[in-house]
Amino acid sequence: MSDELGSPLLVNNDNPRHIAIIMDGNGRWAQKRLMPRIMGHHAGVKAVRKIVEYCAKQNIEVLSLFAFSSENWRRPKDEVSLLMELFMSTLQTQVDKLDKNNIRLRIIGDKEAFPEKLQEKIRAAEAQTAHNTGLTLVIAANYGGRWDITQALQKIVAAIKADEIQEQAITEDLINQYLVTADLPEPDLFIRSGGEERVSNFLLWQLAYTEFYFTDVLWPDFDQAMMQKAIDSFKGRQRRFGHTGEQIIDKRIL
Ligand code: IPE
Ligand code: IPE
Ligand code: MG
Repeated sequence: MSDELGSPLLVNNDNPRHIAIIMDGNGRWAQKRLMPRIMGHHAGVKAVRKIVEYCAKQNIEVLSLFAFSSENWRRPKDEVSLLMELFMSTLQTQVDKLDKNNIRLRIIGDKEAFPEKLQEKIRAAEAQTAHNTGLTLVIAANYGGRWDITQALQKIVAAIKADEIQEQAITEDLINQYLVTADLPEPDLFIRSGGEERVSNFLLWQLAYTEFYFTDVLWPDFDQAMMQKAIDSFKGRQRRFGHTGEQIIDKRIL
């Protein structure tokens, strides 16, 4: 790849280590087919399975999927409870398969709001796959970026009160350590399907320098070829992290 002057443009080339996706458009996919919205969520799970498989094959380190936001409780009661059931049954049927494929499952979000039975399933699924060394699959459920930062602050204040850390020790790195994604690399690539171009309270802190990719494709129609297109778009970009383009080319600082 080169710029308009013909000089080489130093771009990523490497695969993203961490891809974060807002899987949007399930409801509209179903409505277009005159089906109830929940059918769109079922079709969405099928798309998830294909994308997880693809990321594992491409040696992506972390795939984070936004499954249910802290704001999604505002939806009609029926849709919320059907989504909970779908989450529960998907966990039940998929965990062994994930485990066999060396995939480590992590659920992030305020899990205390979930029924105890679901919380137990989550704990069991995480424990069963904890030692796997392939793809880390992060499912964000009852997650909100603002919730994440808030819970981090609450823990930091408690640690200061307990004399475990000093006030002066509060740095960006320290805050990072208290987020639920502490042990994961920051997302390199953010994808949102469904045509909306917003973050909807996903990983607010973590997305500071992430590359964004939006597509009008509704999530149930999002396939492996589209995933590769997003990855290719990422690979063609020059990440500057505040430097100038010349600095990147001349000094190869990054
Ligand atoms: C995303 O699809 C899935 C969840 C939020 C659970 P939507 O259900 O938001 O689909 P649209 O945006 O209504 O089409
Ligand atoms: C974001 O989608 C949350 C998930 C995909 C789980 P929404 O469809 O809820 O987002 P908004 O409300 O349109 O911003
Ligand atoms: Mg939506």
